[in-house]
Amino acid sequence: EQAQKDGYEHFMLKEIHEQPDALRHTISPRVKNGLPDWSGDGLPKDFFSRFERIQIVACGTAMHAGMIGKTIIEKLARIPVEVDIASEFRYRDPILTGNTLVIIVSQSGETADSLAALRLAKQMELSTLAIVNVAGSSIAREAEHVLYTFAGPEISVASTKAYSVQISLLYLIAFTLGQEKGLLSEEQVRVLTRQLFASAEAVRGALRLQERIEMSAKSLAGAEHLFFLGRGLDYALACEGSLKLKEVSYVHCEAYAAGELKHGTISLITEGVPVIALCTQTALLPKMLSNIKETTARGAKVFVIAKQGETISQDVADTVLLLDDFDDLFMPFPAVTVLQLIAYFTARQRGCDIDKPRNLAKSVTVE
Ligand code: G6P
Repeated sequence: EQAQKDGYEHFMLKEIHEQPDALRHTISPRVKNGLPDWSGDGLPKDFFSRFERIQIVACGTAMHAGMIGKTIIEKLARIPVEVDIASEFRYRDPILTGNTLVIIVSQSGETADSLAALRLAKQMELSTLAIVNVAGSSIAREAEHVLYTFAGPEISVASTKAYSVQISLLYLIAFTLGQEKGLLSEEQVRVLTRQLFASAEAVRGALRLQERIEMSAKSLAGAEHLFFLGRGLDYALACEGSLKLKEVSYVHCEAYAAGELKHGTISLITEGVPVIALCTQTALLPKMLSNIKETTARGAKVFVIAKQGETISQDVADTVLLLDDFDDLFMPFPAVTVLQLIAYFTARQRGCDIDKPRNLAKSVTVE
């Protein structure tokens, strides 16, 4: 096992560091002459353009990847996307028509609820597409079409690299749809595809912050409660950051859409409560800063994650982690890396069993 860890103390840290390569391995086979190309996956030409709606179904981290996918697809292709937790989807009697594409996202391809959701979609005679990491898994076998993510084996129970590669395919789907629907020109798709490739480099940039994150985690390790705040893509990231921290460090935390804080949760913000504020979306920064001030005014200890070049004054944040400047749209790649490292180092500081957290399983095959 030590050899498999490649010198890293835990699989989780190793897998966080594998993300740049995992991204390249997943994206490269789907790009020809600078444009998305799905022929290697056996998708018929213009496959995506026949759909008017997309339904994403998944569990846990894969569901959070779906939330990013929804935002990107809706933004670039103007197609409504719904995201459901698989165990809810099955019992909510979903209203779906024939031109809906159901995308099941799963690292293992064996999650019982996701598999059952896939079977329900097939029963409803809907087109199904699985985004799966494990070759030959049940979901991969049963879905009408499969897109494999090439992250390599993910051993740590807490999922890290699988999330990044899942979102990379959802981005490529968004570019394809945007072009097929005539909303993006070929040149725009070329630029977006280049930026997607560059996201691997952006992850490397985030990994260079590791030592600073390790230091910051020392002050999080004693927390009993913690909040993650964000707007837009940063809200979806906050959900994943919060799940990661809960899974491995056992600190109680919640993700909140920053603007919603004042409708209840702010009552829990008291002296010394850590707040991790995601501020990677330049367009939403002024609103985020005013939400952050609402928490600092109540004594919160604020950690801001933002881009180089943004001005975050000392009086709003105790710690500011600055990521290399990159287009807002692609910030989830470096930002999630920071959140994964925060979870990892907080758990390490607390002496937790990082790769095998209590009560959790890598793949949940019960409903
Ligand atoms: C379990 C794992 C999570 C994972 C979820 C969905 O709960 O502990 O890390 O996100 O299942 O797994 P899947 O294999 O379907 O992506």
